[in-house]
Amino acid sequence: ARSRKGDRVADLAAGAGRDGLQPRFPRFSAHFRWGTATSAYQIEGAVTEGGRGRSVWDTFAATPGKTARGETGEIACDHYRRYHEDIALMADLGVSDYRFSLAWPRIQPVGAGPANPAGLDFYDRLVDALLNAGITPVATLYHWDTPQAVEDAGGWMSRDTAHRFADYATLAAEALSDRIRWWITLNEPVIVTLLGYGLGTHAPGRNLMLGALPTAHHQLLGHGLATQALRAAGAEHVGIANNHMPVWADSQHSEDVAAAAAFADLYNWLFADPLLTGAYPDLRWLDRGLPEQAAVDLPTIAQPLDFYGLNYYSPARIRAAAPGSELPFELVEITGYPRTASKWPVVPAGLRETLVGLTERYRDALPPILITENGCSTADPATAEGTIDDQDRIDFLHAHVAALCGAMDEGVDVRGYFIWSLLDNFEWAEGYGQRFGLVHVDFETQRRTPKASYHWLRRQLAGTA
Ligand code: NOJ
Repeated sequence: ARSRKGDRVADLAAGAGRDGLQPRFPRFSAHFRWGTATSAYQIEGAVTEGGRGRSVWDTFAATPGKTARGETGEIACDHYRRYHEDIALMADLGVSDYRFSLAWPRIQPVGAGPANPAGLDFYDRLVDALLNAGITPVATLYHWDTPQAVEDAGGWMSRDTAHRFADYATLAAEALSDRIRWWITLNEPVIVTLLGYGLGTHAPGRNLMLGALPTAHHQLLGHGLATQALRAAGAEHVGIANNHMPVWADSQHSEDVAAAAAFADLYNWLFADPLLTGAYPDLRWLDRGLPEQAAVDLPTIAQPLDFYGLNYYSPARIRAAAPGSELPFELVEITGYPRTASKWPVVPAGLRETLVGLTERYRDALPPILITENGCSTADPATAEGTIDDQDRIDFLHAHVAALCGAMDEGVDVRGYFIWSLLDNFEWAEGYGQRFGLVHVDFETQRRTPKASYHWLRRQLAGTA
């Protein structure tokens, strides 16, 4: 990967505290992409509008006991109706890019057959409004909302889903690639496999444990086929958004070190090696593994990519599990760091570690990186003046941008940074209880209020112009 050191024109120290009140971003090249990120089910609402089909998240959230307080994405941020207001907020913020997802069940209500014109129409209008506002759309094809009909036929446990996904990719790109130049196939396939099919805490709520492994392969195959389909339909820049965690062994004892390596294979490398090296990591410790024909699919999975999307939140500390456990590792709580409202440790150095680690592992096979998600949930105290003082988010973002600069100084080729999220939204099984937005949403009134972090970011971005 080519070093982008030259992208930085001043360092953190030179940029720090110029207004005397808040830390400032270092200055980046004018080509660096600054964005916010969202996903369809988390913000759109309007789940029965425009002929949208049912998705696994509609079903899961409607099942008692699956989400906090029984909350669902039925209304969410009502973005389906309020997208003009949300785009105006982004335009005023000064971001160059917006990462959002297309809802598969809007475009193909039952996951097969021709495109639903009313579903495509919503994205047509959204994309045109973004372009009018001077914001580059970055579209994710799959952010977890599988059409229920596809799930009923086996979902990601079935190889056929990969082909269905590629058909949907064709429909989406044929309609939109004249205006959407940036495409992301899958968002965090590791979470779909682990939480959706392994542990059942996300839709579709299956408890297959290691029996969920075929869903990793079928998603990766879907990614490869969709990449081919996107390119055939004229997409210009194609990538994926993978979640990575730096993995720390709890001690230097060989059992803990081996357990950490096994966890890293499962969490990180299972979803990255096939894309970037054309091979799976060695998963010998698994008794039930990948589908028989996995090796045959590797060349399809390893399509060249234009960028590699990284979602980073926090590291994992791992120790060996007691003998006889189903998995060889156990997660250990990370102490000694501040925590977000969702209790995740705040470890900016983990972003640098991840970026440098990816660059060392894949070298020339690694395309330029886009940080497709980074952010935190905060408690968001409202002040007497009605402003929302999320100083913790400002500190979080500032420290992570500094860590990103550190990685760029080490030669990591990072081209953009997308903050999760523009708006407080439906945080999956946590419902509306965890607020990740730069903009506060009152879910009773749908009123949007930019938080202190929004105003702060706006000043930083204005400074980079
Ligand atoms: C990753 C997911 O892509 C997104 O949907 C989620 O809201 C954030 N992480 C925060 O948990």
